[in-house]
Amino acid sequence: MKLIKATDYKDMSKKAASIFAAQITLKPNCVLGLATGSTPLGTYAQLINWYNDGDLDFSQVKTVNLDEYVGLDGNNNQSYRYFMNDKLFNHVNIDKANTNVPNGKATDKQAECDRYEALIKALGGIDVQLLGIGNNGHIGFNEPNKYFDKGTHEVNLTESTITANARFFATMDEVPKTAISMGVQTIMQAKKIVLIANGPAKADIIYETCFGPITPDVPASALQLHPDVTVIVDEEAYATVAKKLGK
Ligand code: GLP
Repeated sequence: MKLIKATDYKDMSKKAASIFAAQITLKPNCVLGLATGSTPLGTYAQLINWYNDGDLDFSQVKTVNLDEYVGLDGNNNQSYRYFMNDKLFNHVNIDKANTNVPNGKATDKQAECDRYEALIKALGGIDVQLLGIGNNGHIGFNEPNKYFDKGTHEVNLTESTITANARFFATMDEVPKTAISMGVQTIMQAKKIVLIANGPAKADIIYETCFGPITPDVPASALQLHPDVTVIVDEEAYATVAKKLGK
């Protein structure tokens, strides 16, 4: 694992975007694994800036996203498909047919999970996967568990996630209770992984992820076993590492 300390959110975003830009330059038809959440917003904004400057071409790029809420279609502004269109795809010259997010409206969830796994394999695997991290160490929607979740699967969202999301919906019935997420094994099969985190709330979990025991209690700790992981954090998220390692 390489742990890179950025000065602030903007610097973290720029450093992460540089890795993705380099990947697109080296392999124009690469497969990018993408993430949602507030953390990657600056990374996507930076990639859009470089596209607008004429420095990046997404015309052959293919993408696979980590996860999607069950029950929401792509037109719902709370869906991860909507987020990706809104925050990245609508602003660059990517062919939307080359962008993939699990189908939250699929009637047969298991068939959709199997299709998504097969799709990633058919694309030749993920060249570089972007990850955010939850405060409890979750990646994608792989929450702390008794074991590491393997392939793409349907996940029961935790009560805290459901409660946190309730404010975005008119009624409780509309709030998604499950999601489809790549598993930890799916993520670990990416050739390269970039994990980004910022802010004091992420400081303890970044220490656990990089230096704690490898345990499904902290799903992101599995990344210690991957040969090519770069963790980019701002100074606030680095705080516990600095304290515990005396740096
Ligand atoms: C959600 C997403 C994760 C994301 C996490 C943290 O659970 N499924 O992919 O990493 O939120 O989000 P944020 O970046 O907003 O802290």
